[in-house]
Amino acid sequence: MMKIAITGKGGVGKTTLSALLAQAFADMGRQVLAVDADPSPCLAGALGFPDALRKQLHPIAEMDDLIEERTGAKPGMVGGFFTINPRVDDIPERFSVLHRDVRLLEMGSVDIGGSGCICPESAMLKTLFTHLLFRKDDVLILDMYAGVEHLGRATVDFVDAMLVVVEPTRRSLGTAAQIKKLANDIGLDRLWLVGNKVRNAEEISFLTTETPGMPLLGTLPADLAVQEADRLGESVYDYVPALHQAAVSMAKTLVTELDKT
Ligand SMILES: Nc1ncnc2c1ncn2[C@@H]1O[C@H](COP(=O)(O)OP(=O)(O)O)[C@@H](O)[C@H]1O
Ligand SMILES: [Mg+2]
Repeated sequence: MMKIAITGKGGVGKTTLSALLAQAFADMGRQVLAVDADPSPCLAGALGFPDALRKQLHPIAEMDDLIEERTGAKPGMVGGFFTINPRVDDIPERFSVLHRDVRLLEMGSVDIGGSGCICPESAMLKTLFTHLLFRKDDVLILDMYAGVEHLGRATVDFVDAMLVVVEPTRRSLGTAAQIKKLANDIGLDRLWLVGNKVRNAEEISFLTTETPGMPLLGTLPADLAVQEADRLGESVYDYVPALHQAAVSMAKTLVTELDKT
């Protein structure tokens, strides 16, 4: 079992990497659950899910009726009574879709840390998130929208690896160092760096020498075909061979380094 959280600043390539790794693990014969925790979900697109399946997906965070049914209160309500540990065990199967051995669940914006409001939707999402981490999925890929401040202490024990996606710039590595500090503060020290949009050997060596105290899992080349795939509704994994290869090699490394069967 492997639970992998993918973090990094907006636009660095978290969703691209999540899609690539999810499909790489699925093609290795693994059962993959991919979770899109972005308020504007786009992992289904990066995975090349067909339109008919995408239409079936809705972020759990936006399912007001479901949240009310499970917590006993309408979303948006502050104060008053609601269940803080609603039933969620049926949600992954019921609201996810499966395509080419990748099961995808859209959660929507998740505020897992302590800072979230005390309201029905946050109770629902926190409980669901914890449930996902407890589940015995073969491979769990979490496409995290925001940083690790959204990962509560309790979840740390269940995340096997956190991948921090960076671009080969000093600024991006500075952000990665901040993420590392926040992660270490909550006790998470199984961190890896993944370089994305890498254009040449200098940029690779920059990432290997300036790494902010994290091993470099691998790099993904900059490739205009990534945007093209998005425009055409194709999966990056199928459409961009260089990224496909890089992802397969990262997936293999992850299996060697941290798989506990
Ligand atoms: N290796 C790459 N080469 C070229 N463009 C890329 C690459 N990786 C990601 N992109 C582009 O960068 C943008 C942000 O990628 P995305 O994976 O959505 O980032 P995030 O999920 O971190 O916000 C998208 O337009 C995507 O097509
Ligand atoms: Mg994203």
